[in-house]
Amino acid sequence: MKRVLITGAAGQIGRALRKAWHGKYLLRSTDLAPMTPVSASEECIQADLSDYAAMAKLMPGVDAIAHFGGRSIEGTWEQILPSSIVGLYNVMESARLAGVKRIILASSNHAVGFYRRQSTLTSEHAPRPDGLYGVSKAFFEAMGSMYADKHGMTVASLRIGTFREPDQPDNERHLMTWISHRDLVHLCECCIEAPDYHYAVMFGISNNTRARWDNTRAYAIGYRPQDNAEDYAARVAGKAEDDLSRQFHGGFYIPDGFTGDASMIP
Ligand SMILES: NC(=O)c1ccc[n+]([C@@H]2O[C@H](COP(=O)([O-])OP(=O)(O)OC[C@H]3O[C@@H](n4cnc5c(N)ncnc54)[C@H](O)[C@@H]3O)[C@@H](O)[C@H]2O)c1
Repeated sequence: MKRVLITGAAGQIGRALRKAWHGKYLLRSTDLAPMTPVSASEECIQADLSDYAAMAKLMPGVDAIAHFGGRSIEGTWEQILPSSIVGLYNVMESARLAGVKRIILASSNHAVGFYRRQSTLTSEHAPRPDGLYGVSKAFFEAMGSMYADKHGMTVASLRIGTFREPDQPDNERHLMTWISHRDLVHLCECCIEAPDYHYAVMFGISNNTRARWDNTRAYAIGYRPQDNAEDYAARVAGKAEDDLSRQFHGGFYIPDGFTGDASMIP
């Protein structure tokens, strides 16, 4: 059985992965917050991502890392720097030195939030972040690309759309961006099990009728999403976006602190 290290294990996505994976993988789970083991064999270790020595201790014997820890919403530089920037470096570098060969990075649609919504985004679209949180995810993608090229690691950067508890879309934008729990778990399994794919940016979305992101790279490693946000369209009807949000992929992150000139953004 492969040993998988899950960071952010106490968070929404971490909990879903642990629930799905006990019995499938040997789990080593870490978070700043306390966790209750999902099985007798799960190792739960409380640690801060910004502590290099603590991260290095987690690495021996690990086959793959699912890195879902860190700041998961917009925040100040002081909130983002230690957990997401320093934390990502600590995980990548200590993983490399321990010989870990495969890592999944939780990027976000907010790494490409300032693209206009008329354009369908692909894995080849360079980052165009819509805030400091999005910038931290662009850093994830740059680090993943570099560790693949320079050190031969297999790295997936997942531009996740909307993963929610409860497991359903909550507004009209989510009809484009939603990913169900089982689809996210399956996508991560593809990232761990597929033959080496070097470095790939993929989108963390279900099989949504209204999707505006081309997920060819995920399909290439075997991703076959089962859910479609459209099934919830009637439920979220009328929960629309404001004029600025609906122009760009990043949605409601766009007006947050916006002092620019939208007419100048191509
Ligand atoms: N949920 C979504 O819709 C979504 C969308 C795009 C990207 N993502 C990304 O996926 C990842 C997981 O998202 P989530 O929804 O589960 O978020 P979450 O906030 O529920 O979980 C993040 C976890 O990281 C832990 N953490 C934060 N700082 C830490 C530190 N310094 N050291 C150790 N642990 C720390 C938190 O305690 C928390 O349990 C995040 O990186 C997020 O940016 C999520």
